Amino acid sequence: MLKVQILGTGYDVPEGVLSNNDLEKMVQTSDDWITSRTGISYRRIAGSGTATSDLAYQASKAALVEAGIAAQELDLIIVATMTPDMPMPATACLLQHLLGANRAAAFDLNAACTGFIYALATAESFLLSNNKYHYILVVGAEVLSRVVDYKDRNTCVLFGDGAGAIVLGKGEGNNGILAAYISADGEGSGLLNIPAGGSRYPASKETLARRMHYMQMQGSEVFKFAIKSIPECVDRVLKEADLCTEDVDYIVMHQANLRILQAAAKRLNMSWEKVLVNIDQYGNISAASIPLVLAEAVDENKIKAGDLLLLVGFGAGLTMGAALVRWGR
Ligand code: UT7
Repeated sequence: MLKVQILGTGYDVPEGVLSNNDLEKMVQTSDDWITSRTGISYRRIAGSGTATSDLAYQASKAALVEAGIAAQELDLIIVATMTPDMPMPATACLLQHLLGANRAAAFDLNAACTGFIYALATAESFLLSNNKYHYILVVGAEVLSRVVDYKDRNTCVLFGDGAGAIVLGKGEGNNGILAAYISADGEGSGLLNIPAGGSRYPASKETLARRMHYMQMQGSEVFKFAIKSIPECVDRVLKEADLCTEDVDYIVMHQANLRILQAAAKRLNMSWEKVLVNIDQYGNISAASIPLVLAEAVDENKIKAGDLLLLVGFGAGLTMGAALVRWGR
């Protein structure tokens, strides 16, 4: 049966490092609080000249090389981001130009931290439903440091910058995306947002003074949502593929908080060795976190052909989603 397969992965992170000790000098916090409550030690922070498309470009080049696909062969580019270079045009169009992917259509997708799963599910539908599409580049890229309030200790200790990319194609056989599920609950949209800068509260002296262009979060509510939504999404994709958690070799979750990863593994009755983790080094990078931790594991030769991967995302919206992928092409 025809399936959508991951042909290559890539990632990029900026060189700048922000440690817990650095944050201790900026807000009232401590290394101990941050590591024990979140599992984060460091985040990467982009320099002032670096935007989301720059990180996306480096990650995409690496994914294309690994896939053995030229940029000119791409039919579509989807960039999942909530920190585009600018409100318009889409960061995907800027990336298309940087790559010289002149045949590719390009658009951005905003499903916050679930963005990569949404983009993956969207790309799968394009590839399976239309034989004009052969190769799609899916990127999760963020420069969250531009929307983080470094005066708010509730959020500033959590987030970092980076990008992860995959190239998708299609092939016959057992390998590829076995199931994908995306969902949303807009009732919780106020729990995590950037209130200003859109049509509701355009930029004004007042929005600036009230720090409304920065991310605001009710952390413990989002935490509860994450713990509830992960098993729900996992159940959906496993049922669809007629598989169970014992069949899964690696679970690749959005890296929001080490305690969320631990609680989810416990609820799913999955051993910790099966959980891919890099939150200690990078913090939460929203849409970039899943493709980045995946690309790192691929580079470390952790993932073998035939392995079953369970990808799970959750975040602002509120949004959630999962995908089940049999590795290999
Ligand atoms: O990626 C999108 C999805 N996002 C998430 O999944 C984030 C989910 N939420 C979380 O990861 C956690 O809720 C946080 C890490 C954000 C917060 O951890 P928590 O255990 O839920 O703490 P809390 O918000 O209940 O706050 C506990 C205490 C508060 O003090 P009081 O009111 O008990 O005196 C906070 O003010 O910790 C305080 N606090 C801090 N203290 C030191 C909050 N942030 C900090 C900090 N340093 N950075």
